[in-house]
Amino acid sequence: MKYGYFDDVNREYVIQTPKTPYPWINYLGGEDFFGLISNTAGGYCFYKDARFRRLTRYRYNNIPLDNGGRYFYIKDKEGYYSPTWMPVKKDLDRYECRHGMGYTKITGMKDHLETEILYMVPLGESIEIHRVKLKNTDRVVKEFTLFSFIEFCLWNAYDDMTNYQRTYSIGAVEIDNGTIYHKTDYRERRNHYSFYGVNHPVDGFDTDRDAFLGQFNGLHEPEAVIEGKSKNSVASGWNPIASHRIEIKLLPGEEKELIFILGYIENPVEEKWCAKGIINKKRAERLLEKYNSSDAVHHAFLALKEHWSQLLSKFIVQSHDEKLDRMVNIWNPYQCMTTFNMSRSASYFETGIGRGMGFRDSNQDLLGFVHQIPEKARERILDIAATQFEDGSAYHQYQPLTKKGNHEIGSGFNDDPLWLILAAIAYIKETGDFDILDAQVPYNCDPNNMGSLLEHLEKSFDYTLNNLGPHGLPLIGRADWNDCLNLNCFSVNPDESFQTCENQKGRRAESIFIAGMFVYIGKEFAGLYKRIGKEDLARRVLHEAEKMKDNVEKYGYDQEWFLRAYDFYGDKIGSAENEEGKIFIEPQGFCVMAGIGIDNGKAQMALDAVDKYLNTSYGLVLQHPAYSEYKLNLGEISSYPPGYKENAGIFCHNNPWIMIAETLLGRGDKAFEYYRKIAPAYLEEISEVHRLEPYVYAQMIAGKDALRHGEAKNSWLTGTAAWNYEAITKWILGVRPDYDGLIIDPCIPKDWDHINIKRIYRGVEYNISIKNPEGVSKGVKKVTVDHKEQTGNFIECLDEASVRNIEVIMG
Ligand code: GLC
Ligand code: GLC
Repeated sequence: MKYGYFDDVNREYVIQTPKTPYPWINYLGGEDFFGLISNTAGGYCFYKDARFRRLTRYRYNNIPLDNGGRYFYIKDKEGYYSPTWMPVKKDLDRYECRHGMGYTKITGMKDHLETEILYMVPLGESIEIHRVKLKNTDRVVKEFTLFSFIEFCLWNAYDDMTNYQRTYSIGAVEIDNGTIYHKTDYRERRNHYSFYGVNHPVDGFDTDRDAFLGQFNGLHEPEAVIEGKSKNSVASGWNPIASHRIEIKLLPGEEKELIFILGYIENPVEEKWCAKGIINKKRAERLLEKYNSSDAVHHAFLALKEHWSQLLSKFIVQSHDEKLDRMVNIWNPYQCMTTFNMSRSASYFETGIGRGMGFRDSNQDLLGFVHQIPEKARERILDIAATQFEDGSAYHQYQPLTKKGNHEIGSGFNDDPLWLILAAIAYIKETGDFDILDAQVPYNCDPNNMGSLLEHLEKSFDYTLNNLGPHGLPLIGRADWNDCLNLNCFSVNPDESFQTCENQKGRRAESIFIAGMFVYIGKEFAGLYKRIGKEDLARRVLHEAEKMKDNVEKYGYDQEWFLRAYDFYGDKIGSAENEEGKIFIEPQGFCVMAGIGIDNGKAQMALDAVDKYLNTSYGLVLQHPAYSEYKLNLGEISSYPPGYKENAGIFCHNNPWIMIAETLLGRGDKAFEYYRKIAPAYLEEISEVHRLEPYVYAQMIAGKDALRHGEAKNSWLTGTAAWNYEAITKWILGVRPDYDGLIIDPCIPKDWDHINIKRIYRGVEYNISIKNPEGVSKGVKKVTVDHKEQTGNFIECLDEASVRNIEVIMG
């Protein structure tokens, strides 16, 4: 069942009912100011940091779930309703929500009054615009009252929902000329305030929540709205809000536009006040002035649209499959940009007060956005590297505000360091910026202890080598990519975290996943050394990768697939000998990606086993069979009910590793089958099962052992976005940046006969036409560049041309 449709021309998903199976959300803002907004206008906004600078309140896991946002109420003689349906929930005659690139437009029509609200953050500003267009489509004059509503968060989102002995006494506002200023804490250490204003005289206002709602009422029945009269309340402590009241009269056919601005202002300390106790409002007034006309807002909207056209212009596919095109051209790269902005902090599943930026997460995310924003990717790499320790190990997370490593979670996830190499190489292959390798970067953020980025990468590589176990395979530490495979943890205390609790001292638990990763990344690293003329180092790295490969073949292969790990006692995990958890997805992906077993049939057997044991109609589960009870020697993985999360859920993040592995065996039909199964656009028709947004990936879909097989959780902020983008663009469609040009090596379903790709790479536009006359999956027979035939499928990047036309004939 569908709840809307894709409007590809406008790059929007159009939702046709407010009653989606779950709130379907979008993100506003891309620089300093961000908002989350659902299809019924729920959500909140913040400046830079969702915990410390939250402007509006949001209660997670509320009843009903998505209650609280930027709401409007319309009141007339008949009664009152919300044009965004929530929070009043009165039926509308027409409803539509368009989630676009960085904006959301919600239209509600009732009794021939059409209200369209555009929510957006203009480029370069720390404000949200709520543009309300009202149109009387009736033949009679309409008179009604419009109320706005937002609830302020007292800045620190964590204190705001825990520390009531303080927060109930500190709330403070000012009202000036119809604009409501939120200035809690401003009299002491804060030099920031927020404001909510409108480009129209107001007939009333409220700033105290109880006064507006009435003490016993919810957001769906504010007393002020029911009575059609604001209380003109001035908050003092308790819960400050902002609500404007405007009386409106529209002639038949008449239209009116109101522009509401919700903004964040920082004042220099010496300019905080304009009189004792009165905040300096100059900066806010300037913004209210700047956006007080329909024209100004319209231009800001066009500029935002243009900005996204630019970002999304770097890779455009044109195929016979519109679902594929909309994933690759619009929604997947859009989601990748969201993971760049948010990492794992603020979504409808992550509250924005907990986790910082993950070391491994951020490195992987980079694969998905490096071509869109290479300069920011460069900065990101250097920030991440600066949190690395001198022995090559890494903080598992760091705080985006301070850019320092996070002590509470610390280190010891032994896959972490290697991801940095992968990210750095992806960046250089995209940009050709080898200079980044010489950039001086601190260790553990200590400016007195620096090393070049290249030295950091060496230390990452050596960290694995310095931490090998009895089989010469990498020690797993606290966990590897699978945060829940905690082999040294042995936790019996429900009050401690699996990820941070004291581990047993053991140097036996080994990860075949990290081994595969080490070989894959080692080969890449050797390639980099070679390219920069360090042949000796290239040989050394390659030699270590070869040794690891041998160890994997000797000790890391079961009968038909790669083992997952050795536990604390040296026993096998992910083996046919085990009763549960016989086969895991991660090592099958990364070991084959590393090329292990391709020449002797082991790789093929492993991927066949994936198909046989892990494949379901909704994607590949993480392992099989699911653990049915908690196992001390395995940790958190066995704590989840069968079929959820790491315990045999379809953990979408690692499905693309299998897609990529399949392309290395040339099996394009399989690779694409796996792609299609989890790509959200293909799940639109089963939205009642999948339940989450059909335009973005979710971290997890319940596996075959779960009662609700096929149901997704945790949409938006997941490494799934970057890896699927990697799999489809570089390995299935097969356009891969290399150090000095593009490799074109598609691996597609046999029945695809033609694809066109436009790739902007280092400033040159490559128009690539791929033809498949013989119906093969892989293999390139002929390549012409600007009508000249060339040997091989490597397109050297020569910058004298600005456009190149490439024809590739498969066969
Ligand atoms: C979460 C984490 C990621 C981890 C994965 C598997 O998505 O953000 O770092 O690799 O779970 O446990
Ligand atoms: C839990 C989740 C896992 C996540 C980890 C770290 O263990 O299952 O997906 O990576 O928490 O936050």
